[in-house]
Amino acid sequence: MKQLTVCINDRANPNQPSCTGRGGGEVLAKRFEQEIAASGWSIEVKRFKCLGRCDEGPVLKLSPGGPFIYQVHPDDLDETLKQIEIFLA
Ligand code: FES
Repeated sequence: MKQLTVCINDRANPNQPSCTGRGGGEVLAKRFEQEIAASGWSIEVKRFKCLGRCDEGPVLKLSPGGPFIYQVHPDDLDETLKQIEIFLA
């Protein structure tokens, strides 16, 4: 099954960037689970701690073979949902 990996990493040190600290994380993973369920798409949301692009977070990855998607915020998912739909087509 295709996967949408959502970085849920958080760091105790506020001076180090993390996807949760930048507004993503678990909140973002849950928003995608809701949107994907509502759309009926066949893609699994997977949580992961750090995709190695912390300065560009919140970060997602579509797999297999899909792109990283950067700076995705829970309140503004339209563009990312379009990217997911294209990836699934
Ligand atoms: S904390 Fe999300 S990519 Fe590193």
